[in-house]
Amino acid sequence: MVELVVLVLLCIVLLGPVLFVWGLVDMRKGSGTRGGILTILGATTMGLVFWAYNAISHMNFSKGRVLRLKGRARVARRTLGDGWADDAAPRLEGLTPWQRTVLGEAWMYSAGMEHASIPAFAKLSLKLSALGAPSELLEACHLAALDEVRHARRCFALARAYSGLPWSAGAIPELGQGHPPRPSSGDGDEWSRLVRGSLLDGCLGEGLAASVAAEASRRASDPVVRETLAVIAEDEERHAELGWDVLAFALERGGGKARQALHLALDALDTQRTPTLPNIPGVDEGFLARNGVLPQAELGRLMEDCLQQTRARASAWVEPAARTQRPRVMMPPCSSSPNISSSASTGKT
Ligand SMILES: [Fe+2]
Ligand SMILES: [Fe+2]
Repeated sequence: MVELVVLVLLCIVLLGPVLFVWGLVDMRKGSGTRGGILTILGATTMGLVFWAYNAISHMNFSKGRVLRLKGRARVARRTLGDGWADDAAPRLEGLTPWQRTVLGEAWMYSAGMEHASIPAFAKLSLKLSALGAPSELLEACHLAALDEVRHARRCFALARAYSGLPWSAGAIPELGQGHPPRPSSGDGDEWSRLVRGSLLDGCLGEGLAASVAAEASRRASDPVVRETLAVIAEDEERHAELGWDVLAFALERGGGKARQALHLALDALDTQRTPTLPNIPGVDEGFLARNGVLPQAELGRLMEDCLQQTRARASAWVEPAARTQRPRVMMPPCSSSPNISSSASTGKT
């Protein structure tokens, strides 16, 4: 079955270039009309394959903390190999090759984002260390990175199972490129960046990831997918709370610049948009929801809820009455999360 899926995909991918070259050869031989038609058909097929690939690899799934390098979100190159998958085995019966391709790409997208969250937390740890953060924050940051390792392994495993291809994580070359230090007007800029990153990527981003994964888990029919998303939801909720704790630390120690940065970050909440899901031929919203991908309307609703809650909670910290109060710094329990590898890997619950 796996070989058949790979063969069908290979034929679809190669069809465009073959028709295109065939058409060019025909035109050179003098068959202008047939060659022209074949060339156009080939170019159209290549365009459709590229569009389909682009569409399904940008589906919104659960995400962790975004890895930002020079202001751009980065993920690892995809590669084939071992080392980044657990033994998860979702049900494949009844799925067509196209449906498996769509689900494989959707989980590859999640896998890339989860994998990128690992160095994102490593970067946060370095920043917190540089600013003299307490041990509890550093500990929570490293535990969160370990959560992301489990999330990435699981997502790669599901992507491999659906696609039939041994996908794995490749390099993130941008991480190894030394970049010049940012122009800084002093220590205050570091606090400002920490405040903005914590509110947008931590409190909002991971809070939304938790809500999306929780709702997707409720709608998923496959037991492995359902439990995977439930565990991710619980972990991401804890990561969002870590974002709030980092924000509290920054406000407590960063002075007026940190508080000013929170005002600006609150304004930036208004510019956050719900990612748009593409329409993919051959798969409807019901199918996607049963397999862990929420419909656009549901994503929009969850985004609005998260924006509202984030705005309300953060605004309370910049109100005049709150200025005399110390923001809450309380670490959630980190050892209570279920282990994704042991509880949901085979679906035998
Ligand atoms: Fe995650
Ligand atoms: Fe996360």
